[in-house]
Amino acid sequence: MTSKGIILAGGQGTRLWPMTKVVNKHVLPVYDKPMIHYPLATLMLADIRDILVISSPEAVPQIRALLGDGSEIGLRIDYAVQDRPAGIAQALLIGAEFVGDDRVCLVLGDNVFYGNDLSQLLSDAAARSVSTVFGYYLEDPAGLGVCVFDNEGRPQRLVEKPPTRVSNWVVPGLYFYEPEAIGIARDLKPSPRGELEITDLNMALLESGKLDVVRMGRGMLWLDCGTAENLLEASEFVRVVEKRIGLQICCLEEIAYMKKLITQDQLAALAARSPNPTHRAYLERLLQADPA
Ligand code: TTP
Repeated sequence: MTSKGIILAGGQGTRLWPMTKVVNKHVLPVYDKPMIHYPLATLMLADIRDILVISSPEAVPQIRALLGDGSEIGLRIDYAVQDRPAGIAQALLIGAEFVGDDRVCLVLGDNVFYGNDLSQLLSDAAARSVSTVFGYYLEDPAGLGVCVFDNEGRPQRLVEKPPTRVSNWVVPGLYFYEPEAIGIARDLKPSPRGELEITDLNMALLESGKLDVVRMGRGMLWLDCGTAENLLEASEFVRVVEKRIGLQICCLEEIAYMKKLITQDQLAALAARSPNPTHRAYLERLLQADPA
């Protein structure tokens, strides 16, 4: 079964206001590239080619101007509108037709993943025939959805923003769903805050024995970019790693080339078109090396 990808990149970005007054948060920079490049790279690393970007009515044109139809990097990117931020689980309803009978990987537009095991983790999740979400240990899980595990490490329950600490294992914005999840999403009722909660969907799957929660190891980095502080931290992280190892994190052209979605000639053409000398030199350097 093939997998489709959805990037949910709407929302209001109120915590980043006034930066988000005229542009959508997902086109803001995380160091040297727009935020949405990071979740897009995550989907590409999961070998997903068909991608639906969902955003607000005002932001879809901005993101479309940025990413286009994806053909330059061997993808097919479509767009859909979420009229108002009515919850993460609504992405599955908006994307239902696009997903059809396939599996789908949903990623939030402000989530950054990085780590040695990332490709393996993603391909394992994609290969499993059960819906899969992840657990990520945080020192301070306040304000986030968490998973409570029993002593044997089995997931017991998922709780959205618990008022007191019940677990340090946060559920990041990266979800792999079997086709059945869309039917379950259709039955969800809005929460008291008026949203179709992803935690309710995941809990319904867990209760019927149809959800795996895989714990990410400490070698994995997960960041979201929801506040000015998070955004700066993510930029700092990317800058430090890129400078140190001389390789870029989540360079879309590089991943496309490595995954053989584009040829050497196509990469050369992208390099030639880049008006940024640093970016151009990076792509030209990739042309010198053998594709992996
Ligand atoms: P949030 O950070 O919860 O919301 P936000 O981006 O609107 O920011 P703020 O809380 O500062 O107003 O959203 C997490 C991610 O999910 C983000 O990338 C936006 C996306 N999202 C939607 O696109 N639609 C939605 O209905 C929700 C709830 C989130």
